Amino acid sequence: NTQIKQEDEPSNFVKTMKKQDRKVVIFYGSQTGTAEDCAQRIGKQCKKRFGVAPLVLDIENCDMKYLDQVPEDSLAIFVMATYGEGEPTDNAQEFWDLLENPEFSEGGNDLKNLRYFIFGLGNSSYTYYNWVSKTVDEKLTEFGAARIGELGMGDDENSLEDDFEAWQDGQLWPLFGDALQVDAASQDSSSVPDTTYKVVELDVAEDGQGVYCGELGEKSVTSWGAKKPYPAPITSRDLLTGSDRHCLHLEVDISGTGMTYTTGDHIAIWPTNSEDEVFRLARAFGLDDKLDTVIRVTAADETSAKQSPFPQPTTYRAMFRHYLDICQIPSRDVLQMLVRFAPTPEAGEIIKKLVTDKEEYRRVVIDSVRNLAEVLDYASSGSAPFHVPGDVLVESFNRLQPRYYSISSSSSESPYSVSVTAVTLKYRPDPTPERTVFGVNTNYLWAVHKNLHDDDEAIQVETEYSVEGPNGDYFDAKNNTAKLPVHIRQSNFKLPSDDTKPVIMVGPGTGVAPFRGFVRERVYRKQHGKEIGPTILYFGCRRRDEDFLYKEEWPELFDILGENSKMINAFSRETEQKVYVQDKLKENGQETWNLIDNHSASIYVCGEAKRMAKDVQKAITGFAKQYGGLDDDAAEAYISKLRDSGRYQEDVWA
Ligand code: 2AM
Repeated sequence: NTQIKQEDEPSNFVKTMKKQDRKVVIFYGSQTGTAEDCAQRIGKQCKKRFGVAPLVLDIENCDMKYLDQVPEDSLAIFVMATYGEGEPTDNAQEFWDLLENPEFSEGGNDLKNLRYFIFGLGNSSYTYYNWVSKTVDEKLTEFGAARIGELGMGDDENSLEDDFEAWQDGQLWPLFGDALQVDAASQDSSSVPDTTYKVVELDVAEDGQGVYCGELGEKSVTSWGAKKPYPAPITSRDLLTGSDRHCLHLEVDISGTGMTYTTGDHIAIWPTNSEDEVFRLARAFGLDDKLDTVIRVTAADETSAKQSPFPQPTTYRAMFRHYLDICQIPSRDVLQMLVRFAPTPEAGEIIKKLVTDKEEYRRVVIDSVRNLAEVLDYASSGSAPFHVPGDVLVESFNRLQPRYYSISSSSSESPYSVSVTAVTLKYRPDPTPERTVFGVNTNYLWAVHKNLHDDDEAIQVETEYSVEGPNGDYFDAKNNTAKLPVHIRQSNFKLPSDDTKPVIMVGPGTGVAPFRGFVRERVYRKQHGKEIGPTILYFGCRRRDEDFLYKEEWPELFDILGENSKMINAFSRETEQKVYVQDKLKENGQETWNLIDNHSASIYVCGEAKRMAKDVQKAITGFAKQYGGLDDDAAEAYISKLRDSGRYQEDVWA
């Protein structure tokens, strides 16, 4: 019996490789879908260039203990993203733990047969740039595996797409053929399908029953979580009343779900695309009349591990609203794929130019933040739609992913009520100041907020959303309740276990979110008899009467914490000279250094990564020099040690 069970074991990818005669296995560790997309694109190129059909696998579904059994004549390709502070993506966590597990390394796990390519995705505004790909590469080498070519690294801050191309052109493809002993396009690739999924339109008779209208999670998933987000009832209020920006405070109720959180965790919210974008896309592809047609999207390759990208069957409308990231910026590969469907030769030429001319692509697409429908409109001047087959359409987008927010409540104080603090995002891209780009999720949240406060005429929405949920079950006008699909993501951003230790928190703007949770957590503990160390919060905003978040809450909280605790504010636009949190830190440099060096204070920074978080670190490194008498190198090393011991933590975004 065990024998049979093992045979069926789907996580044994080596068995699948052998059974399906695949010589290449591509693993992806992906959080927001970019690494997955890169992996799929590599997979396609393997077929196109060499006629080799690879297995493209979500690393989460693979038992990586079998790595040592990958046949000698085969290849592995790792596409690994780094998430947050040098953390693996959720789906790569198990593999990450395995690499650390002494039993894996010492238990005879000799990877001497394994040959691999590796490409990492990261963002250079973060301290631990591409940490995961570097570590995976190091570990695999340490266990005897042989890397082919160089470790490729893509930088999402600048040039991910270019880096990915450069690595493919410079490393992967020149070395691939030799490594696998195949010649370029030596084999017939015509039988291998081009797209990952195929789409069939079903008879209307199949409508109604069993059609997914945007539900998240397959019916077979039983517990709430990342695989099945929970439609949580919400309440909301706007923290920036009267301003042209909106900062929403939302609370969702997770009682009775089995989901739990602890202070400092993140909440994932699953957005809905705006109706404006759904229609723009439908028009661009000539699907306006077909939005309610029932379709089934399944893997083109019947042996593929992932048989459908989202719940099936569904409709074009639900797919555009809920399942595909239709607002993402299209890659040049996607545009290349669409050239031949251009409605006019002129439109085709314009798309072709975007594909071949990097500067043009950067200006028209990246810097102007145009989504695919907007690029197609740009090319055809909206004159005629691109009629593309369904499989090409689906191939053009990643799956719509949840957005993550630092939780701004304390789990001790309110274990079942989770709060979020989010500013609505909208901006006018430099090259095209006449266009407004709306952040996908925050504007959806704003639309939901509007529906909950419909009697308030001051609340205006600029872009329409369906807030009714998949089956009209999210918004209940009679009871004035709304729901949001959510799940909880654990984070490492945590208060010190010893409550008596001081904490220094730096969080300008919505960076204050987790610190509202931290402060409330410490207040709760103090009120429950714990001794609490100094709790110091640096908060920055433009003006005290404009965007001072939770202004009315702080005095009472800090009163309870007592005289060693305080909030220090930097109001950037009240004076001629800008004042930022790092300036305020410097005013208190001696005291801050004393808390760090003599009282084992922990430092927490939340907010914008590239400038603010860097400047804060610079300020603190400066204290080590000025007050600690350390030289440059020693000061840097001091901060590194703080980080390694968890006493300097960041929760930042690019
Ligand atoms: P500003 O918009 O007036 O420049 C929240 O956004 C607060 O962070 C605002 O007061 C904003 O100031 C400030 N801020 C902007 N850039 C910053 C930086 N590099 N470091 C610290 N604070 C910054």
